[in-house]
Amino acid sequence: TDAFPLDIGEWRAGVPMVFADFAVGNELAATPGTTVRLKVDATLQLGTNHNVIAETRGGDPGKVVMVGAHLDSVPEGPGINDNGSGSAAILETALQMKHYPVKNKVRFAFWAAEEIGLLGSDQYVEELTQAQRDRIKVYLNFDMVASPNYAYKLYDGDDSDGAGSPAGPPGSAQIEKQLESFFDSRGLAHVGTDFDGRSDYGPFIAVGIPSGGIFTGAEGIKTPEEAALFGGTAGVAYDVCYHQACDTTANINATALDVNADAIADSTARFAFNLRSIPA
Ligand code: PHE
Ligand code: ZN
Ligand code: ZN
Ligand code: ZN
Repeated sequence: TDAFPLDIGEWRAGVPMVFADFAVGNELAATPGTTVRLKVDATLQLGTNHNVIAETRGGDPGKVVMVGAHLDSVPEGPGINDNGSGSAAILETALQMKHYPVKNKVRFAFWAAEEIGLLGSDQYVEELTQAQRDRIKVYLNFDMVASPNYAYKLYDGDDSDGAGSPAGPPGSAQIEKQLESFFDSRGLAHVGTDFDGRSDYGPFIAVGIPSGGIFTGAEGIKTPEEAALFGGTAGVAYDVCYHQACDTTANINATALDVNADAIADSTARFAFNLRSIPA
């Protein structure tokens, strides 16, 4: 809108995506050699959704730093930790950037339809030309950054933290290192987490764009080691309200939101000025 204070070109709704959401409740048992006719009981919902993309007016258009969070939630609840937390943190980073010119172009993405299969980010990356993809030097993803029983988990781009997922595209390790140094500088612990594509960075790493980000845990159970590092309760889910009606504003850990909002601003600003750690 005209009142929007950031020196951003314009807020742009992405190409509408039509999606079909199937809930299939069939199990199939077949004897080899027999013909099986499959009856699918499906509820089909059709809808249209938009990504919202905004980028700085200034900055080298040949060097784009992309920062994303999904704006949708599951139908079961309001989705405040998943993912109001990441959306709010990147929005605040965008607002604060009005105070600073940038060297590289910074593009913010509020993704649609993550919860039904990364549809928004998938469509966005799919529709980019190779030249447009090549200009995106870094993609930073923030999905669930204020879990009530949080751990500071960084996507394991270098596969050195035992998370078990493959290493990300070249440059991902450097993004992880830069995020690690933020937590180190605050004297805060951090651990690695699976870099397996279970959020909107998936389509980016699939085409070789260096990526990274922060995650504070979903339905997984906090370990005793993590409780020693971060406080909270071992043996309990990071987010007991994950994908439920109780994912309300009461489901936010204020400390985690505060620290991660700073980490997001810090990493965005550093890459906005300096991409030298990322291999060309
Ligand atoms: N993408 C998941 C969601 O939005 C959250 C998640 C991310 C869970 C990474 C595990 C690992 O529900
Ligand atoms: Zn979710
Ligand atoms: Zn999410
Ligand atoms: Zn790592």
